[in-house]
Amino acid sequence: MNQSVTLTTPDFVKNPYPFYDEIRSIQPIYKGNFFKYPGWYVTGYEEASLILKDIRFQNRVPIPETTKKYENLKNVQNKMMLYQNPPDHTRLRAFVRERFTFRALEQYRPIIEEIALVLLQKVKDQKKMNVISEFSFPLASLVIAKMLGVPEEDKDLFREWALTLIKTIDLTRSRQSLVKGNDTIMAMRTYFKELIAKRSQHPKEDMISLLVAEGQNGDKLTEEELLSTCILLVIAGHETTVNLISNSVYCLLTNPTEFHKLIENPSLIESTIEECLRYESSTQMTARIASENVSLNQTEIKKGDHVYVFMGAANRDPKQFANANVFDITRNPNPHLSFGAGIHFCLGAILSRMEAQIAIQTLLQNTVNLRLDTDDVQWRNLTGFRALEELPISFS
Ligand code: HEM
Repeated sequence: MNQSVTLTTPDFVKNPYPFYDEIRSIQPIYKGNFFKYPGWYVTGYEEASLILKDIRFQNRVPIPETTKKYENLKNVQNKMMLYQNPPDHTRLRAFVRERFTFRALEQYRPIIEEIALVLLQKVKDQKKMNVISEFSFPLASLVIAKMLGVPEEDKDLFREWALTLIKTIDLTRSRQSLVKGNDTIMAMRTYFKELIAKRSQHPKEDMISLLVAEGQNGDKLTEEELLSTCILLVIAGHETTVNLISNSVYCLLTNPTEFHKLIENPSLIESTIEECLRYESSTQMTARIASENVSLNQTEIKKGDHVYVFMGAANRDPKQFANANVFDITRNPNPHLSFGAGIHFCLGAILSRMEAQIAIQTLLQNTVNLRLDTDDVQWRNLTGFRALEELPISFS
């Protein structure tokens, strides 16, 4: 029988890990009703990994099908690969898959290095910066803008849109955030329709031109799918990578022993970013719905049940990770679930790892005496994402 666990959102947002540990120790698949969402809360590593890889647990648009409101938002989300299941998921992912391989992305390495350096040169004399607004956000947004072929000067518009849309898929969402999301998606549709029209007349080397060509080449990709793919990539490329870079800086500055290990041994950069991904994952949770009755490690999940998979909790499961609550940049192996698993495994994993490694390396090579300028950071009011409001640091 379940013990009952209570939770307040502010405590959770500040530090979700004690809550994860508590419900995992009761049941790694816990039947609960947190944030007013009844369902199975998955915090065990083995269970999370099995569910993410099992296509009987399907991805779905987070707004109930029966709701007549927010139609625009629902229609656009419905056509995103993230919320599709095979065979449409396989088809949609295939259009962009090749652009996100290690080989294809290597060409962006010098561009990312240059952007990181230019951003740090801008703040060099002031000896301090807000990591999010002056470093991680401009870096991640310039990279995705280049890849997609979105005008760089529109990056603030995209930041605003990304912040709004993230709220519509989080368990903390309110009616107002859905209304705002519904309007935002209309603005994004108009924006991308114009851009798509331009690229179909004058194609370039970017991803939007490639997708436009695919769309025109038979019935492979509909106009609505093309719009949804652009919107998904621009949001995913902005939000999560900004947080990966900022959370990595935060993890290092709040764990000085590990930080000095990295300064002394820069070749630890890859395992450092993997540990930052595990320890403060920018994506904490993803949701599924059971398409049939499933029996999983003695838990009977019924068709139609909602399942909330907390990767942030699985990443701290002591059955999988020794000293799971300790930040250790030499951890090896480190099979965290921060990029998900199975068919929806993050398309941008290689790109965002590359961006984070370059960002941290460039920061360390160009500053000394890095320190946090606050001892009270604020986390954004989200449950599925781990995102700082601001991250002020200073350096010599
Ligand atoms: C350039 C940056 C990124 C891009 C373009 C990107 C893009 C995507 C896309 C298109 C998907 C859907 C894949 C599918 O359904 O087949 C996805 C899934 C996912 N991404 Fe990313 N992503 C980026 C960065 C990140 C980062 C930094 C994280 C977290 C640390 C992350 C975590 C995830 C997770 C957990 C999923 C799976 C969600 C699920 O299974 O429900 N992404 N990403």
